[in-house]
Amino acid sequence: RQFLLGGAVAGVGAVAAVGVDLALNRADADQAPASTPMNGEQTVPFFGDHQAGIDTAAQAHGLFVALDLHDDVDRDGLARLMGLLTDDAARLTQGRAALADSEPELALAPARLTVTFGFGPNFVARAGGVGPSWLATLPAFGVDRLQAEFSDGDLLLQIAADDPLTVAHATRMLLKDARGFADVRWTQQGFRRAYGTERPGTTMRNLFGQVDGTTNPEPGTADFDEVVWSADGWLAGGTGMVLRRIHMDLDKWDRLDRSGRDASVGRTLANGAPLTGAEEFDEPDFEAKTSLGFPVIPQFAHIRRARGDGAERIFRRGYNYDERPSGASVSESGLLFVSFQADVDAQFVPMQRRLDELDLLNEWTVPIGSAVFAIPPGCAEGGFIGETLLT
Ligand code: HEM
Repeated sequence: RQFLLGGAVAGVGAVAAVGVDLALNRADADQAPASTPMNGEQTVPFFGDHQAGIDTAAQAHGLFVALDLHDDVDRDGLARLMGLLTDDAARLTQGRAALADSEPELALAPARLTVTFGFGPNFVARAGGVGPSWLATLPAFGVDRLQAEFSDGDLLLQIAADDPLTVAHATRMLLKDARGFADVRWTQQGFRRAYGTERPGTTMRNLFGQVDGTTNPEPGTADFDEVVWSADGWLAGGTGMVLRRIHMDLDKWDRLDRSGRDASVGRTLANGAPLTGAEEFDEPDFEAKTSLGFPVIPQFAHIRRARGDGAERIFRRGYNYDERPSGASVSESGLLFVSFQADVDAQFVPMQRRLDELDLLNEWTVPIGSAVFAIPPGCAEGGFIGETLLT
């Protein structure tokens, strides 16, 4: 994967270096070395100890679909459903058509497609299993203005790829196989920068223009493993997912000046550096004071409040959303806040409580959807996602 990514990026750089003339010349594009892999050919392994789509570098497009199980689906039905969906995901993510694929050609460009499954409380109960104690609706927070149409659900599909057509096709194939068992409760579509627009590894920006995702555990490290992966029972090797649809009032944000914007988070918009530093990854100094004796990173700053004493950690992997505005507004935008953590109650909830009490960002943000899912571990070839619960 590293090699493929490197090759593709080198290709982009080369085009930029030789100038626009060449980049626009189709004949030259046709002569690109055959070994340069297309972005669409890249794949992420499906089978493994953990499901893909969590420690995978976030793809450009993410679709979240929550399903509600039909009343008559029992434990055996759940196992059949997960067997079917696992088979679809295993094929599609590797660039192969699903069984009875109605548009098999659309499967040929996986573009780093991942499909990640999550179980809501009702799924686990229907399976006759016992879920982790945090697998429930989150406690109510003062800032919440939750809408049922963006909240809860029995089975989550997180379908992500660097190409929106790939996402659409995979979604349709999965939903066709799921429809005998469950109905769509909600879908939420998110995006980041298109593949190739920025260097891989660049921290995403949200629609406030902020660099969003700087302080985050690093996939592949022991630290990440400890924050994210559960060690408990059927969920061992899995994790907990919180999805919050958070509306961002861009019109109100427009009225805030640059220094106010920086102060609200405690980092600069320019490059995401903490107000006490110069570069994005400089460690914030929460003790530093201005000449007047005020903290340089204000008490109300989002990063100070989110971090607290540093005891609770989560892994954030969110997406922007931007829907059709209604009425006089020009935007209907926000963040699909997605976090993964081994224990939602111990890690996410205290942090969200702190932000509920004080966080200047609350002036411009409102949670309007909320859901919690248990993400089961991955499986080996021949197995299926959810087998640790269902067999
Ligand atoms: C940090 C934006 C909601 C937890 C940040 C940063 C930005 C940001 C710009 C600084 C850069 C970074 O380290 O990523 C937002 C926006 C939100 C939002 C726009 C809502 C629309 C939340 C929520 C939580 C959260 C709901 C958790 C309950 C964190 C954490 C950090 C962070 C843990 C890192 C703090 C540290 O430096 O230790 N957020 N955030 N954020 N945010 Fe948020």
